[in-house]
Amino acid sequence: MDVQTLKSRLAGLPIPDLRYFEEIGSTNDEALTWIEKGAQDGCLVVADAQTAGRGRLGRRWVTRPRAALAFSLIMRPSQAERAHLGFFSPLGALAICQSLEEQFGLHPAIKWPNDVLLERRKMAGILVEVSWLNDQLQGVVLGIGVNIASNSVPPDSEVMFPATSVEHVLGRAIDRRDTLAAILKGIFHWRGLLGSQAFFQGWEERLAFKDEWVQVQETGGAPLTGQVAGIDATGQLLLRLASGQVKAVSVGDVHLRLVE
Ligand code: BTN
Repeated sequence: MDVQTLKSRLAGLPIPDLRYFEEIGSTNDEALTWIEKGAQDGCLVVADAQTAGRGRLGRRWVTRPRAALAFSLIMRPSQAERAHLGFFSPLGALAICQSLEEQFGLHPAIKWPNDVLLERRKMAGILVEVSWLNDQLQGVVLGIGVNIASNSVPPDSEVMFPATSVEHVLGRAIDRRDTLAAILKGIFHWRGLLGSQAFFQGWEERLAFKDEWVQVQETGGAPLTGQVAGIDATGQLLLRLASGQVKAVSVGDVHLRLVE
């Protein structure tokens, strides 16, 4: 990616500084180090390839050269935003969905809490990491990986959930810089609505597997099976159990899978 062109596409967004790398270990690592060195809110790390990309729950995330989007946005949350730290990943998911809806008329869905799907396959992943100094929150890194070209998609045998890419579904090539700019614009938009009714409604409207049977596995807990019923006013997933009882599940280290 040419940095000057990239900067011109991002003009007008509240991004005080940008670091671009043709190749890096992980943009999240770079962003976390940058926070320690005093990066301001809105600073951005973008890479065309990652050699040590990280996913959720300690998984690996592969970013092949120029085939995907891999970036990390640094945020210094306000006092009010600190009450909603768990919603920074759905914030990223909402921004990705909205940008692909508006740019290409696609219909992405959010696999609760934050994977973004196209045609029921994973197209983007989000890794939010928080930087603490003693017990003081220093900043939040919103790391996003989007499969753009078909060769960015890992084979089914290498992933927990089958994947796809934007260009595969769209059937044509796109400009990654425009999509990056659109996602960032969406992040700043939804950030202003973090934890509001509009935020949860936007999330619920894009919820994947509505009314389908899924199993949710909370870390250390017993699996819960139910139909996806929605998102409540506090951002919890509502599951309708076989008994008819509706159970709310909080955002955390959960794993949701479809029941065959
Ligand atoms: C997941 O679905 O497991 C989350 C994947 C997050 C990948 C992105 S790519 C940019 C940023 N840098 C990383 O090392 N990870 C995130």
